Amino acid sequence: MTRPPPLLLASLSSILLVVLVLPSTVIFKTTPQLVQFFTIQQPPPERTPPNPVPAGARPPPKKTAGNTTIQQPPAERTPPNPVPGARPPPPKKTAGNTSTEAEQGSEKPGPYHDWEHFDGDYNEMMRNLKIYVYPDVHQNSSPFSNIFLPRTNLKKLGNYYSEHAFKTALLSSPLLTSRPEEAHFFYMPFSINLMRYDGRLHSVESINEFVGRYTDRISSEFAFWNASGGADHLYVYCHSVGRDVASSHEGLLNNAIQVTCSSGYSQKLYVSHKDVALPQVWPRPDPDDRVLNPPDARDRLVFFAGRKQNARVREKLIALWGNDTSMAIYSNNRSLPYEEGFRRSRYCLSVKGYEVNTARVSDAIHFGCIPVIISDYYDLPLNNVLDWSKFSVIINEQDVEFLKEILLSISEETYLTMYNNLHLVRRHFAWHTPPENFDSFYMTAYQLWLRRGLHRLSY
Ligand SMILES: *[C@@H]1O[C@H](CO)[C@@H](O)[C@H](O)[C@H]1NC(C)=O
Ligand SMILES: *[C@@H]1O[C@H](CO)[C@@H](O)[C@H](O)[C@H]1NC(C)=O
Ligand SMILES: *[C@@H]1O[C@H](CO)[C@@H](O)[C@H](O)[C@H]1NC(C)=O
Ligand SMILES: *[C@@H]1O[C@H](CO)[C@@H](O)[C@H](O)[C@H]1NC(C)=O
Ligand SMILES: *[C@@H]1O[C@H](CO)[C@@H](O)[C@H](O)[C@H]1NC(C)=O
Repeated sequence: MTRPPPLLLASLSSILLVVLVLPSTVIFKTTPQLVQFFTIQQPPPERTPPNPVPAGARPPPKKTAGNTTIQQPPAERTPPNPVPGARPPPPKKTAGNTSTEAEQGSEKPGPYHDWEHFDGDYNEMMRNLKIYVYPDVHQNSSPFSNIFLPRTNLKKLGNYYSEHAFKTALLSSPLLTSRPEEAHFFYMPFSINLMRYDGRLHSVESINEFVGRYTDRISSEFAFWNASGGADHLYVYCHSVGRDVASSHEGLLNNAIQVTCSSGYSQKLYVSHKDVALPQVWPRPDPDDRVLNPPDARDRLVFFAGRKQNARVREKLIALWGNDTSMAIYSNNRSLPYEEGFRRSRYCLSVKGYEVNTARVSDAIHFGCIPVIISDYYDLPLNNVLDWSKFSVIINEQDVEFLKEILLSISEETYLTMYNNLHLVRRHFAWHTPPENFDSFYMTAYQLWLRRGLHRLSY
């Protein structure tokens, strides 16, 4: 499939804005299906007024599913089960006699694409998956042991907690093996986060070089790397400075699995079907059995707190809604403390700043606030298991002006369904040591399980 020329795309996007009224359904404007469809079926001229919808104006009402829907793609283009990796459209938000939420939901209730299938395979993983960790994780005499040893105090690691929590969970899990010959995967236990805070490394260049040398070292000291060219090796990071380390070594770049919080389709060295999106989770008390604030105790429609980070979409968001008292959207001035904002709001925004990812998504899930993700090309964690459209709202960055309208048009019933689904997915966005069934560790391990079965040279 070739990419369409920019001119075509430009005209398509204005057509799409007007015709596909619900902006958040227009998630991948450049997917081959959509492009092909629109090049085949030119919309009638009266649907493409020369002037696009003025900013702030209501988008035109959604077409109902009657004989007016010239634009409906043929049935085979909208499979009932979303393609893994693609973001399915959020639930219908406008009134109209299209199929109701209940009808759509009855097809596959709950937040999973296919719970039975997943559950069976997950249990298979729990019985069989084995991961070997290179011995540096235990060697406390080397000059760089601080980079490799597990951290004991995980609570202060903030945004980078997941990187460390994976390691401590693995080391205390039955998936760990000390017999490399039975391992499906080999974990390289360096911490990008700790390199960043080590004065001897710190810079992107030094970190890249360190990782390249480390990879050379294990591939000469051990036979496992060469057996697969590194394809069954993984490294884990949540600090965005790790995004470039794969450039330091060809095998890392082409074969090894990055398990990372910084998982974006538009990111240079991230390959969505090779690499793994790591849930980014803020450290919390464990166990944390605080009861969620019920819907009727949530008096704010939407909450966002974050710096502008020079991101256009954040600037636009704050310019549009920063003074709207029904929406708690703050840049610097927080009249609502952070956690309070999540507890008292129905919808909580995660808006792209420097990165596609932030811990706000899992914060929202944790506090029972529906995540609203305005961050194009974010490869959402666990999206081949979880149907994100059943517990979150995904809006294109360019449609941020329709934010309030989209959220207000979500029916109470749909909101409550999403709220209930949040309860079900909450356990996937929490780390424990030792790990607990279906937590972030085992869900991430399951992503590895799906990548097993590589051919290896004998050694
Ligand atoms: C379909 O078109 C017919 C004739 O134009 C009209 O009478 C009918 O109301 C339309 N149905 C819907 C669901 O819009
Ligand atoms: C839409 O559906 C509702 C309930 O199913 C029905 O009462 C109503 O008449 C329908 N409206 C139209 C325009 O068909
Ligand atoms: C793996 O391959 C590299 C490059 O060919 C080589 O230098 C290294 O010695 C090999 N490792 C082992 C353990 O044989
Ligand atoms: C919001 O309020 C501030 C301070 O009163 C004002 O400077 C700004 O222009 C307002 N923004 C909007 C979008 O109305
Ligand atoms: C901060 O927000 C509060 C509540 O919205 C408002 O009363 C106050 O004036 C704001 N302060 C500044 C400096 O904008």
